[in-house]
Amino acid sequence: MAIQGDRIALVGRTSDVLAEAGDGAKLIDASGKVVLPGFVDPHTHVVFAGDRASEFKMRLQGTPYMEILAAGGGIMNTVRATREASLENLMHQSRARLDTMLAHGTTTVEAKTGYGLDTDNELKMLEAIRLLDQSHPMDLIPTFLGAHAVPVEYRGRADEYVDLVIEEMLPALEREGYPTAGKPFFCDVFCEEGAFSVEQSRHILERARALGMGLKIHTDEFTSLGGTALAVELEATSADHLACTTDEEIALLANSDTIGVLLPGTPFGLAEDHYSPARKMIDAGVAVALATDLNPGTCYCESMPFIQALACRQMGMTPAETIVASTINAAFAIARSHEMGSLEVGKKADLLILDLADYHHLAYRFGTNPVQTVIKAGRLIP
Ligand code: NIG
Ligand code: FE
Repeated sequence: MAIQGDRIALVGRTSDVLAEAGDGAKLIDASGKVVLPGFVDPHTHVVFAGDRASEFKMRLQGTPYMEILAAGGGIMNTVRATREASLENLMHQSRARLDTMLAHGTTTVEAKTGYGLDTDNELKMLEAIRLLDQSHPMDLIPTFLGAHAVPVEYRGRADEYVDLVIEEMLPALEREGYPTAGKPFFCDVFCEEGAFSVEQSRHILERARALGMGLKIHTDEFTSLGGTALAVELEATSADHLACTTDEEIALLANSDTIGVLLPGTPFGLAEDHYSPARKMIDAGVAVALATDLNPGTCYCESMPFIQALACRQMGMTPAETIVASTINAAFAIARSHEMGSLEVGKKADLLILDLADYHHLAYRFGTNPVQTVIKAGRLIP
C-alpha cells in the first residue's frame, strides 16, 4: 500500500507499489503482521470530568444502575463534576483517554455531550470536542446528547426539560454554527424508562433533523419502549445498545439503512448479562457496528480490541464480523464510510499494524494491546 499525504494512494502487489512509490518513499515493512484499517469507535462519552469509582462498589453489591441515577447519582454525579470543570480541565482529562484509545488502534471516535444538561455546559462540552478534534491526531465526531438524563433541577418536570432542549439548546447550537456544513454532527437521546419516553425522544429528534443533524438513539438498554422502531421511522444513522430489542424491531432494522451499534462492554462493565443478540441480528440482515460506549458509569473502557473479544464470546460474532463491525460498519454508523473504515484508494490513510500471526488472533487473545503501529491520516504516531 502506498500513502501520499493523508490519503491511500495505491493498494496492490508489493512490486507494483514499490515501482509506483519511487526512491524517496519512506518504507514500512509489515511482513508477517496484520494490517487493518484504523478502528472507528462510533459511540463514546469520552469527554467528562471526574470518575464514578465509588458507585462501582455499590453496583457490584447489587444496586441497579437506573436506581443510582434515580437517587441523583450516576449520570448526575458526572454532570456535577463536568459543570464544575473549566474547559481546559475538561479537555485535559479527556485528552488522556483519547491518547489511550489511539494507542489501542482507534483512529476516529464519536464523542457525545450529555454531562452539561444546561445550555452553557452543553456548549462547553461541544467546544471541548471541537478543540480536541483540532489538536489531537484522532478525528472526533460530535454528538449533542442534551437529553441524556433529566437533571435534578427538573426532577418530575421531564416535559419542561424536553422543551428546554428543543427551545433553548438546539437554537443555541444553531447560533454557534452547529451543524457546520460538510461536517458530520449528530443528535442523540437516551430513550429509556427513567430517562426519556418515545414521544419525548421523537420531539427532540424531529427538531434536530429539521436543523440538519444526523440522528442517533440510546435505546433498548434495559427496557423495550419502541425506540428502535422510532429510529427506523426517522431514518436515524444508528440505533445503539439494542440489548432487549424485539424480533419485530430487529426485522425493521434489517430492512433499513440504520446501523445497529452494539456495546458489549456495557453489560460487562455493569456485571450484568443483558448482551445484545448480535448473532440473531446479523443473521436477520442487520448491519452491526461495535463501540466501546466509553463512559465513567457503565463502561470505562478505551479498547476496541477488548470489545471485539467480548463480542465473540458474549454475542456470538465471528472474529471477521467484529473487524467489519469496528471498521467499515462503524464508519457507516457516523456517516463517514466514504472516507474511512477500509483500505481503499482515496480514503484517509488510517491504519494499524498488529503484531499478530493472523487476524483471528485479535479477538482470540485479550488483555494486552496487540497494536504495534498506528498511522493516522498518513502520519506515523510515535
Ligand atoms: O450509554 N445509558 C446511558 N448512557 C451511558 C452511560 C452514561 C453514564 O453512566 O455516565 C451509556 O451506557
Ligand atoms: Fe452511551
